[in-house]
Amino acid sequence: MKKVIINTLLLVAGTILVTACTSGNNSDTNNAGTSSAIPIGIGFAQTSNIALLGQDGVNGVKIAEKYFNDKGGVNGTPIKLVFQDTGGDEQGAINAFQTLINKDRVVGIVGPTLSQQAFSASPIADRAKVPVIGASNTAKGIPEIGDYVARVSAPVSTVAPNAVKAALKQNPNIKRVAVFFAQNDAFNKSETEIFQKAVKDSGLELVTVQKFQTTDTDFQAQATSAINAKPDLVIISGLTADGGNLVRQLRELGYKGAIIGGNGFNTSNIFKVCRASCDGVMLAQAYSPEHPGEINKTFRQAYLSQFKTEPPQFSAQAFAAVQVYVEALQALDKKTKVSTLPLPQLRTELNKQLLTGKYNTPLGEISFTPAGEIVQKDFYVAQIKMEKDGSTGKFALVK
Ligand code: ALA
Repeated sequence: MKKVIINTLLLVAGTILVTACTSGNNSDTNNAGTSSAIPIGIGFAQTSNIALLGQDGVNGVKIAEKYFNDKGGVNGTPIKLVFQDTGGDEQGAINAFQTLINKDRVVGIVGPTLSQQAFSASPIADRAKVPVIGASNTAKGIPEIGDYVARVSAPVSTVAPNAVKAALKQNPNIKRVAVFFAQNDAFNKSETEIFQKAVKDSGLELVTVQKFQTTDTDFQAQATSAINAKPDLVIISGLTADGGNLVRQLRELGYKGAIIGGNGFNTSNIFKVCRASCDGVMLAQAYSPEHPGEINKTFRQAYLSQFKTEPPQFSAQAFAAVQVYVEALQALDKKTKVSTLPLPQLRTELNKQLLTGKYNTPLGEISFTPAGEIVQKDFYVAQIKMEKDGSTGKFALVK
């Protein structure tokens, strides 16, 4: 009873606490907790071409910040998201992570947007003993970066093959497959290996493998070579701008067969790149707006009312990453008041705690392996349906 009253008082006093304690103490041994609002770092791409993916993450974490603070934050103490733009490359992610770790003194980080960036930036957080939760990194090997690196974005190995199965179910006559991948990007190199294996495992013929760069805009040469190989299915591992433009150019050159896009297509920002040509593209997803349960319903409604479109996978994953931090902090705080822990200890304890929890998120129930890999049950395949205007569309669930 006493505890309930104290918690209620803390909740009511939340705003006063924030105002009273924002100065904090910046000495190395002092903690984040004394500054009342608990700082969680967000390192997503907010500029460059990669912002097409990063913006979905930003939208998701902002919804989570409001959702959890409205519910009382960490046992009465609010969280505060601190954003550092990573841009689209490795150096941008390194700079953002260093600022979040040393200047913003966050308890943990969500990000970066690309696996390619994670392989450079996440080891820095790992060495500084700062937890990192990847919320869109899907390449093989992300949790293995170190003890402080986990992810809520299911790896290509568990997600990508579902799209091949769904395409074959929809069109059992598919025999010949052309694969494209961006060769300068870690996630796409990892994803294409999985796709190529799924093609062979399904008894299909891999008729050509075409390479491009994520910065390319002209795909005429590769698209023409692939069309000459007469595929019935094209599978593309690219990011949003390059992948979307490749789809458009394949259609303009007359390709009429099925197309599967990889995880870089998993944003509604793809619609404005390939426009009407996006129609029919299939892709595997680790989230569905239709996933049952209260938390997804609330998340979906918040997203819909703010952005007038269904929430995409990266937003749901970003929400889940913040949720993991909040619920792990709540659990830790019940054992030892987080406001009494020096920051280095808080970061270490938080890392241990988050790996042991179970979280009922918009992605469904998730947990982690001891190495930090997500354990998730539900996966989906969607097909893009474009509206007549040619610029808006949706991911329709393939049942
Ligand atoms: N899933 C993409 C990656 O891991 C965004 O880089």
